[in-house]
Order: sequence, then structure tokens, then C-alpha cells
Amino acid sequence: MGTHTSKDFTAKWAGHDLGEVVVSAKEIHQRVLELGAEIRDDYADNPPLLVCVLKGAINFMADLMRAIELPVEVDFMAVSSYGAATKTSGVVRIVKDLDVDLAGRDVLIVEDVVDSGLTLNYLRQYLGARSPRSLEVCALLLKAGEQRVEQSLKYVGFTIPSDFVVGYGLDVNERYRNLDAIYSFTGKA
Ligand code: IMP
Ligand code: MG
Repeated sequence: MGTHTSKDFTAKWAGHDLGEVVVSAKEIHQRVLELGAEIRDDYADNPPLLVCVLKGAINFMADLMRAIELPVEVDFMAVSSYGAATKTSGVVRIVKDLDVDLAGRDVLIVEDVVDSGLTLNYLRQYLGARSPRSLEVCALLLKAGEQRVEQSLKYVGFTIPSDFVVGYGLDVNERYRNLDAIYSFTGKA
């Protein structure tokens, strides 16, 4: 966990409802390299299909795929969960489905954040029904103590407090995805 640095927090973002840096750009970069190396070792004989959950995981996916020294394949799906902006209802709508067949594949779901775990729980069942050989999860962030659904996450970047955060793909009302660090959000959603 870091504090503001000139790279993380420049004057152009002053006046927005951004609080403390929860994970700095440097910490993210370092951890993504470690995760990439772990994934390379674990999947050396069977390069995985990385499934990015749009939109929140785009930044993470773009960096993670380049940190894995294996010929991985990538695909994208988009989900949206009904409910208030900062809390998920657990009812998930598939906005964009995958293009590739999962049968016999080693699938690694790339997620931005696991909060209640309801979204991931739904995705696991949905994708698990397509006969992948293996189905695992790489989540950048895990909200401490918030899981309503038990999750076994093969890879986790950072465990963070349960406060709402933005940046590095994570949004509030579609904004702040383009920040290069993760910040607490102090405004109203
Ligand atoms: P869950 O179903 O409660 O685990 O929530 C998962 C989804 O809610 C994530 O994939 C995010 O899109 C969104 N989400 C949860 N917490 C945050 C947050 O702190 N900031 C931005 N989006 C979040
Ligand atoms: Mg998401």
C-alpha cells in the first residue's frame, strides 16, 4: 500500500473524488510480473486460454498477458450485474459471450476484483458447463472478508480493505478506468 506519488497523482486529477492510493502503479507492475512468472511455471506444458472479464479487467489483462512467457490465447466476455452502482446484486447478465470453444481447454478467468464473489460464482458455473479441462481464476484484487460465496482463487494480486476503489480498469459510473493506480473513491456513486 502506498501514498500519492507524482506519477500516480498528477494535478489533472485534483478535484476528483480520489482518496488514498490503495495500490500504486509500481506495486501493480511488480505483482503482475510475479503473477506472470507463476502462471508460466504452472501452465508451461499447456498454455492457458485467458478469459478477460470486461470491462474492469482490461488493464490487468493487457499487462498480465505480456508478463506470461507462453503462447497464451485470449478471449473476452462482458458481464453486467444489476443493482446499485457500488454493490452487486449477484444477478449477472452476459453482455458479450466468448468466441472460442472451451472444451478441453485450460481456462484462466482474469478478473479485476472479487467482492461478494457472486459475479465470479456465476461465471464459474456458466463457463464450467462448457467442459473446459481446467477452470481457474486470476483476480487482481480480493476484498478482505467480503465474500458471500466461498471462492478458491488460484492467483490473487492484492487483498485490500472492503472500501470502494477505482482506477486500473475499475470504475464508478464508467469513469476512472484510465488511472494507472488504484485509489479509494471518496465521492458518491
Ligand atoms: P462481486 O460480484 O460482488 O464479487 O463484484 C464483482 C464486480 O463488482 C467486479 O467485477 C466489479 O466490476 C464490481 N466491483 C466490486 N467492487 C468494486 C470496487 O471497489 N470498484 C469498482 N468495481 C467494483
Ligand atoms: Mg468486473
